[in-house]
This record gives sequence, structure tokens and C-alpha cells, in this order.
Amino acid sequence: MASFALGSSSSSKITPWIFIFPLFLLTILPSISASTCSSQKFSMNKNFEFCNDLPQLSSYLHWSYDSSKSSLNLAFVATPPKPTGWISWAINPTSTGMIGSQSLIAFRQSNGQMIVKTFNITGYGPISPSEIAFEVSNMVGEYSGGEMRIFATMILPKNMTTINQVWQVGSSVEGEIPQKHAFGPANLNSKGTLDLLKGESSSSSSGGGSNSRLRDRNIHGVLNAVGWGILMPIGAIIARYLRTFESADPAWFYLHVGCQVSAYAVGLAGWITGLKLGGKSVGVRYTAHRNIGIALFSLATLQVFSALLLRPNKDHKFRRYWNYYHHSVGFTVIILSVINIFKGFNILEPEMKWKTAYASVIIVLGVIAALLEVITWIVVLRRRKSANRTKL
Ligand SMILES: *[C@@H]1O[C@H](CO)[C@@H](O)[C@H](O)[C@H]1NC(C)=O
Repeated sequence: MASFALGSSSSSKITPWIFIFPLFLLTILPSISASTCSSQKFSMNKNFEFCNDLPQLSSYLHWSYDSSKSSLNLAFVATPPKPTGWISWAINPTSTGMIGSQSLIAFRQSNGQMIVKTFNITGYGPISPSEIAFEVSNMVGEYSGGEMRIFATMILPKNMTTINQVWQVGSSVEGEIPQKHAFGPANLNSKGTLDLLKGESSSSSSGGGSNSRLRDRNIHGVLNAVGWGILMPIGAIIARYLRTFESADPAWFYLHVGCQVSAYAVGLAGWITGLKLGGKSVGVRYTAHRNIGIALFSLATLQVFSALLLRPNKDHKFRRYWNYYHHSVGFTVIILSVINIFKGFNILEPEMKWKTAYASVIIVLGVIAALLEVITWIVVLRRRKSANRTKL
């Protein structure tokens, strides 16, 4: 039975914002997390393991890489400046720019049909179709509403898992030959490296490619660090130390519940992103991180629901045992969370500053808790003394 009764003192209802805030967070989070490419769908059940929003020319790359066959299955999506133009995606095995790039170029033929051809780009002059350094199959072009797509399968040399990619768009094709593209900053910076196995890309220009897998991992990290690793300890500090001050009753209780319900909601979102990542990461298992995550989530779920639904009244004879239970489960969840967040840092290997920032937050919270612990003891001891005095 639901009982939000505040012990013997009052039986006010928990104000709705306690639930509205986490709901609000849950509704805005998916919109932050969506990369453009991950919402792009293809016909005929074409699915790819990775996708990148490329940093220039509003272009997108989707791919799966099979290392046993060293085969790269890809889709490149871009919008040429004109419907009569062309789009191109290339690997440059010898250099980083256009010269030397082994290119796939797609355009519409005079009959309106899309075609994809391979070009060995050897200079800045006019180009012509030719063999390229890789075996290419399943070349298909698509056109819809101004947007063009290239699908292809390439067999790469063994162990060529980090590639130099180059992409481009142009506005005209004459006699089935793509004509030169514009030379704006975006056209000149549309290149970078791509790790086919990890999905991480970098670009010579600022910004870099935003990558679906890396972004999901970062979101997973931020949600869990904020939910489990920051909000939840703050909620515990509120409960333990604000309660000492009689004037803070029952405000501390609402703050505590609000903080922990929000922490749980954000942490739940983080936990779900973790499940998603775990499902996608075939072959690589982070057993300890995963098991700790499952354990702490189970304990936290027990904690939140038992606290909301089963908490005995303040005067109940079991209340003391309830408090031991509630405090030890809460403490365990927080310790497991902090451990797992640091394990996560070791997996994700973000820039050092993030680990330092989180460690600083934890140290600051720890210092605050230690100070408040001392203050609480002083207050409690003084109170006992004066209580004794009045007794005498
Ligand atoms: C591409 O062109 C360069 C320069 O002419 C040549 O050395 C290379 O063999 C060509 N590659 C293929 C696959 O034809």
C-alpha cells in the first residue's frame, strides 16, 4: 500500500514536482542523444552497425566491417548542390586528400537513373572511370528528393582497419563525367580518418566527425555519472544532515525524495543506454562493469520502491530496523556507483579532465559530508547535554 505519511508529524502528499522533474528529464534526453545518421533508414532491410554524421557537407556514412573477410559494407548519404550533380565517397590508401583517392561517385544518367562508378583520382584535372585499388561489388545508387545515396561492398587489404576517408559533392555532370566541385572551406575539409572497428572518426578540421557509438558511450557515461554518481550522494547527504535541524523538517524529506527519484530516473536512462551498448558490443565484454551495474541497479530499484511503498511509520516498532536497512542499501548503492563510474572511465578512456572533474566532485561531496558529520555530532551532543540538564 502506498504510504507517503511523514511519520507522526504530518501526512502531506508529496508534491507533484517530485515526479514531474524526472519525467521532464526523460523526455528531453532522447532528443539530445539522437545523431542525425542514426535516424536514417534504408530500403530493403539494409542495416549497418555504425554510422557517422560527417563534419562537412551534411554527409553521412553508415557501415559494417567484417574483419574475417576484411569486407566493408557501406552507405554514403549526401545532397549535391543540384539534382544534376554528383556525390562521392573515397578511401585514400596513400595520402589524406583527394589525390590518390579510390572513389565511388554517384550521379544521375541522362535517363534519370542513378549510377555508381569507381574512379582512381590521380590529379586535379578531368577524371574518368577506372578500376580502383579495391574489389568493389553491390554498387547501387539511389536518389530521392535531392538526396543521393551510394551503397557498396569493398574488400580492403587485411588489417586496413583505420582508413583515410574523403567525401565530396559537385553540382554538374557532363557526358557521364562528374565536373569539378566548388572549393569552399567545407569542400576542402571533407576528409578525415575513420576507425572501422571502433567507429571513431577524427577530422583534420575543427569539430571532428560525431560518431554514433562514441556518442552513445558518452551519453551513457554522463547520465550515470550525474544520476548515480552525483545526484544520489547529494540526496543521501540531504537526508542524513538536514534532518538534524528541526526547522528543516519536513523539507529535508521532500528534497531527499525529489533528489533520489530524479537520480533514479536519470540513472535508469543511463542504465538503459548501458544495456544498449552491451547488446551492440559483440565480442567485447566488460564483465565487472556490467555485473556491478546490474547489482547496483537492482538494489537501487529495491530501495526506491520499498521507500515509496513500504516505509513504516516513524513510531512503528520496526522503524529502527527499517532505517538500518534503508541506510545500508543506500550506502552500498552509492559505493558501487562510484566504483562503477571509475570502471567506466577506464573503458571509455575520455580526456583526463573528465575523470579529474568527477573525482573532484566526489572529493568535494566527501569533504562536505565529513564536515556535516562533525557538525551533526556537535549539535546532537549539545542537545543531549541540555536535555540531561533539564532532567536534573
Ligand atoms: C591509379 O593511378 C595511379 C597513377 O596513375 C597508378 O599508379 C595506380 O596503379 C592506379 N591504380 C589502379 C588501381 O589502377
